[in-house]
Amino acid sequence: MIFSRLKERWRLVTLVALLIVLGIWKVAMAASNVGYSPAQPIPFSHKLHAGVNHIPCQYCHAGVDRDTESPIPPLNVCMGCHSVVDANKPVIQKIAAAYKAGKPIQWVRVYDLPQFVKFAHRWHIAAGVACQTCHGPVQDMNQIRQYREFVMGECIACHRSQTYLPAPADKVHRNLATYHGHEVNAKTECSTCHN
Ligand code: HEC
Ligand code: HEC
Ligand code: HEC
Ligand code: HEC
Ligand code: HEC
Repeated sequence: MIFSRLKERWRLVTLVALLIVLGIWKVAMAASNVGYSPAQPIPFSHKLHAGVNHIPCQYCHAGVDRDTESPIPPLNVCMGCHSVVDANKPVIQKIAAAYKAGKPIQWVRVYDLPQFVKFAHRWHIAAGVACQTCHGPVQDMNQIRQYREFVMGECIACHRSQTYLPAPADKVHRNLATYHGHEVNAKTECSTCHN
């Protein structure tokens, strides 16, 4: 009786151990995503838009600098230009049809942090970190690809090393930092990025 219960417990221990190993493996796989560049449902080119045609990042990714982020542009943004630009090309007609039907394009995500991490663009943009520091030379990419791996160490390394002048909106800290003649470091306490 006791023996069989013990065995059951061991079975449980093995199962838990297996789950932990699987978890670590999954995280390790997720961490080695540099260069990940999935094919998108529409062959959208950042090089053509942000590079050749100099459309600013935030023209399309509006809101990344604010509380309400919805960074992937909805189709009405595309149609603002493409109701005229290249309107007779099949690929644009596909976009127009999706727009008319109210069916958003299912873009495949490239960057995706685990749910338990607190991240928002606004602090970074306010502190003057360029999009390219984290996402690379997007304006040269036809198909977007992951530029760096956002494991914890990468976030912390920058927070430790990079000083910045607090955003103009943060007048008190900005004035203090300027007054003392030095910029401040981004926070590295666990609670900065985890609840
Ligand atoms: C500010 C204007 C503007 C916006 C907004 C815009 N585009 Fe474009 N798009 C262009 C221009 C300019 C070209 C290049 C036209 C050319 O050279 O023939 C282009 C070209 C394209 C092409 C290539 C067509 C081809 O095969 O030659 C695709 C696909 C495309 N855009 C998709 C999109 C999608 C999807 C969106 C929305 C996420 C979007 N565009 C938003 C201006 C815009
Ligand atoms: C004309 C609109 C447009 C402009 C301008 C634009 N983007 Fe995008 N961006 C998109 C669309 C549409 C997607 C989703 C499709 C894709 O991944 O290619 C996207 C995807 C991305 C992604 C990947 C998101 C993810 O995790 O899946 C990043 C990062 C990005 N853009 C950064 C930038 C940066 C940086 C710039 C300026 C240099 C820029 N974009 C300019 C429309 C635009
Ligand atoms: C400090 C690094 C950093 C900077 C600077 C940065 N990003 Fe990001 N970006 C990230 C990370 C990390 C993610 C993944 C966020 C997540 O999964 O919650 C991301 C995700 C995105 C996405 C996809 C989000 C989604 O919901 O699909 C877009 C689009 C994007 N960034 C565009 C931009 C643009 C445009 C800029 C400049 C205005 C910019 N990023 C600046 C780190 C950064
Ligand atoms: C290239 C440098 C850089 C990288 C990479 C970076 N950060 Fe930051 N981060 C900053 C700077 C600069 C600030 C501004 C500090 C501030 O406003 O407090 C900041 C602020 C933050 C804040 C707000 C802190 C506060 O004041 O409460 C959070 C949360 C945060 N980052 C999370 C992340 C996460 C998560 C990652 C990785 C996915 C990351 N950061 C990657 C530079 C970076
Ligand atoms: C600047 C942001 C940042 C700070 C500060 C930070 N973390 Fe993380 N942490 C992350 C990110 C991003 C991930 C998810 C990516 C990964 O797993 O590396 C993560 C993942 C984790 C995980 C999941 C285990 C793993 O490796 O997958 C644990 C546990 C963790 N953090 C604990 C901590 C503790 C404890 C501290 C304080 C000593 C801390 N974190 C501080 C950003 C941060």
